[in-house]
Amino acid sequence: MCGIVGYIGQRTAVDFLLEGLRRLEYRGYDSAGLVTLDENGRMDVVKATGRIDALAEKLEETPLRGSVGIGHTRWATHGPPTVENAHPHLGGENVLAIVHNGVVENYQSLKDQLIDHGYHFRSATDSEVIAHLIDFHLQQLGEQGDATGDQRYVTAVEESLSQLRGTYGLVVLFRDRPQIMIAARLGSPLVVGIGSGEHFVASDGSPLAGYTDKIVYLADHQVALIRADSLKVTHRDEGHVKHRVEKLQIHASNLDLEDYPHYMLKEIFEQPNSLRDTMRGRLCEDNATAVFGGLNLTAQQLRQVNRILLTACGTSWHAGLVGEYVIEEMSRVPVEVEYASELRYRNPPVDHKTILFAITQSGETADTLAALREMKRKGHPTLAICNVVGSTIAQEADGGIYLHAGPEVGVASTKAYTSQLLVLTMLALYFGRLRHLSYEAGRRIIRALQELPDRVAESLNCNDEVRRIASKYCHENNFLYLGRQYNFPTALEGALKLKEISYIHAEGYPAAEMKHGPIALVDEHTPSVFIMPRDFVYDKVMANLEEIKARGGPVIAIVGEGDTRVAELADDVIYVPNVEPFLQPFVTIVPLQLLSYHVAVMRGCDVDKPRNLAKSVTVE
Ligand code: M6R
Repeated sequence: MCGIVGYIGQRTAVDFLLEGLRRLEYRGYDSAGLVTLDENGRMDVVKATGRIDALAEKLEETPLRGSVGIGHTRWATHGPPTVENAHPHLGGENVLAIVHNGVVENYQSLKDQLIDHGYHFRSATDSEVIAHLIDFHLQQLGEQGDATGDQRYVTAVEESLSQLRGTYGLVVLFRDRPQIMIAARLGSPLVVGIGSGEHFVASDGSPLAGYTDKIVYLADHQVALIRADSLKVTHRDEGHVKHRVEKLQIHASNLDLEDYPHYMLKEIFEQPNSLRDTMRGRLCEDNATAVFGGLNLTAQQLRQVNRILLTACGTSWHAGLVGEYVIEEMSRVPVEVEYASELRYRNPPVDHKTILFAITQSGETADTLAALREMKRKGHPTLAICNVVGSTIAQEADGGIYLHAGPEVGVASTKAYTSQLLVLTMLALYFGRLRHLSYEAGRRIIRALQELPDRVAESLNCNDEVRRIASKYCHENNFLYLGRQYNFPTALEGALKLKEISYIHAEGYPAAEMKHGPIALVDEHTPSVFIMPRDFVYDKVMANLEEIKARGGPVIAIVGEGDTRVAELADDVIYVPNVEPFLQPFVTIVPLQLLSYHVAVMRGCDVDKPRNLAKSVTVE
């Protein structure tokens, strides 16, 4: 939600800012804006509601030349998506500009105080208070005269931040100080890219790709004083800190659409490779187990774990449900899966042998972060299963496992989901091998995992057939998704995929639950999608399918290759490769991802940027 970019150097800032904002579009937004500053202190602001294209059109009318600038995509929280509420916001007599991500919880009382001091507010946002507050402190410091040069600006920002309650990723420019830019973070991500005689700021690494591969992940309570040729970081409690420069792991080519019309389709088709990347170097045939570098717990400590708590939101929560099945089956360690938004406010009895895994693609989801912090506060080991390197959750967890799925741009999670499933399956193998799982069983699981990317590639062959089926049903407004055991979480995930990008109402259920209520919904305009490859509950699911057909409901069935029985009853059948039950979620989700994609395209929906949604949900 919301995106920040900033530039200081020799280039025309607006070029980087605009491209950077486009690369952050996936985070979700409803207005955008930027400000540039030239060496003479000329400050130009351009803002627009709607897409970045609208901002780009305005910029064609008003080309900006400054070599310092900041930009922002806003996902409205306080005040509707209007030009006035879009960032940047100007402070005082337009002497400074800020862009802000996060929420200022005590903005109303600060606003009242600033109004008493004579400040005029132009927007309904909480963020504007930060701009005026910094101006207020600048004035105070000017009068006192005990902070001079750049320090006066840094101190004004720091004093303002000390008054804020809430979260911020913040970048500030000053009209009379075009040679500096100040960035600060608390609970909302911010990175600094180091170039040659130039610096970049962004909410995550994607805008930096192609510009620099040197990245600094700012931590909470850090403030960065950025000049074209220097970066100085201070921490609220520690004073000056030496910043760690890391290597950016995103390449510009990762963000290229290639010949695909949408990122979502590209990412669906990337899955064989993203799975290979997730698996790379993590399977040890000699010991018939998985290996993870960053758990930061010894095998001895992990053997003593008697309960695993998985917490997540949305698609990542569905991955957790699959994790529960596979970890319990392979390792016999009891697993619980909790919505992070529930866990954060619950006080479940958890003993000292419980460990928590937070599953999150973005590593920024506010509820997941809060649940992790709460468990950490209680002294439990917290681990992250995360895709975005250097994200807040990755930084705050005691250890973890990166997905290495590559950047996921489409708002609908696809390749990150299958990589989450893979990490959880490898964890199941690892925990199993620490306990009772035999060497032979471990080797068999490894062989199946090594073949998995090829099986997923085969399941992509159904694309044309899925497109045909999508055209048949794309005008329906209610769908049911049904599966059992390993395919029950897949039913939930298939339904979520359809609703989030095509805005069709869809529900996922364990197939046997139908007769306890949902079957009342079945009619000739409510297709049921059955996920039913051959396994030990196949005959039971077949009985559920008959119940739907008996009530006139159309059936689309996902079945294993060679299945002939289902075709006799179902209206449409999609075939996927036959794999062991614990790998079924990987191959059965592919046609469901494709179904939601094609239906959404046929309904004219904005597949990669669905309405109301954001890629990283950084508010509660
Ligand atoms: O980044 P996270 O995995 O923590 O995000 C959690 C959910 O917001 C996310 O999975 C959401 O449900 C996706 N839009 C699903 O496609």
